[in-house]
Amino acid sequence: MFEKLNLSSDTVNQLALLGAAMIIILTVFVAGKYIRQMKTDTSTGELSDENWDGIGEYKNSLPTGWAVSFVGTMIWSVWYWFVGYPLNAYSQIGEYNDEVKAYNAAYEAKWANPDHETLMGMGEGTFLVQCAPCHGIAGDGIDGKAQGFDKRMTEAQVLHVIENGQDQLKYPMGAMPAGMASGDDAKAIAKWIAGGMKGEKPAAFAACASCHGEDGTGLGGQAPNLSAYDDTLLSHVLEHGKTGMIGHMPAFNDGRITEIQKKAVATYIQSLKEN
Ligand code: HEC
Ligand code: HEC
Repeated sequence: MFEKLNLSSDTVNQLALLGAAMIIILTVFVAGKYIRQMKTDTSTGELSDENWDGIGEYKNSLPTGWAVSFVGTMIWSVWYWFVGYPLNAYSQIGEYNDEVKAYNAAYEAKWANPDHETLMGMGEGTFLVQCAPCHGIAGDGIDGKAQGFDKRMTEAQVLHVIENGQDQLKYPMGAMPAGMASGDDAKAIAKWIAGGMKGEKPAAFAACASCHGEDGTGLGGQAPNLSAYDDTLLSHVLEHGKTGMIGHMPAFNDGRITEIQKKAVATYIQSLKEN
């Protein structure tokens, strides 16, 4: 049920009613004045020489109020175009972008120091959404159409890089020149790397060690780690993308994945190998 309107105790309602009454009285008064004026007024001033079928025009100057408003509208339109809405002031897209920025900052702050378990969870989530469509839910590369993560690289992939060189990932070392090894040497190296760098190291790997390090881990981020998908490698691949022997891996450098998510995906991908 609605409450009964109680005027005697409600000052806000009283004021509103008073205001409404004032507006009605003023309107009646002003309208009456102008209607009377229209009935009795006669026009004055000097007529121009031309007339059209007896209808003439006065040469009166512009009413000041009208002229001021006219110039005012022009000034306002300039202000509106360059300063006012919608060019520089509030916009829904701007508000959305601000909210996204604030959300991302809060996200980064919240996950600044994640433990291993958190990284695994976050990495799995990110992987399933962003990477699994190509790499497969299990990270097995869906019949060789993308990288499988059970090992760092296949023998054929390593051979391809040795033969062709590579310049895509923008490591501090720069490009990898083609033909650092050839023939049986190259095959032996490729087999050894694809096998997880276990067993006897081929002597010819010396040609690679100067850049990738004796243990193949990339001299602390100077060149790609050949033994594991470490954080550095993942960052370079996601930042620049890679077109290799298998195909094209798109870059993820448009903010779809944050720094912490890159780290998380790296952690998760390394775990795929262990399983
Ligand atoms: C002059 C330094 C240098 C030498 C010598 C070198 N590499 Fe590289 N290698 C690099 C760099 C730098 C990259 C990253 C290239 C890029 O930006 O795409 C790389 C990339 C690779 C990759 C691809 C990694 C990936 O994830 O895409 C493989 C595999 C590789 N090297 C194997 C070898 C092998 C095997 C040898 C020896 C036969 C060798 N490299 C010799 C510097 C070198
Ligand atoms: C559109 C398909 C596609 C998507 C999506 C994709 N990848 Fe890839 N990825 C590829 C292909 C194809 C390759 C093989 C490139 C090559 O031939 O070396 C690859 C290669 C890789 C490699 C190996 C690169 C190297 O040098 O050894 C890594 C690591 C990788 N992807 C990680 C990811 C991660 C992490 C995601 C999700 C954030 C992702 N990829 C999303 C297609 C994709």
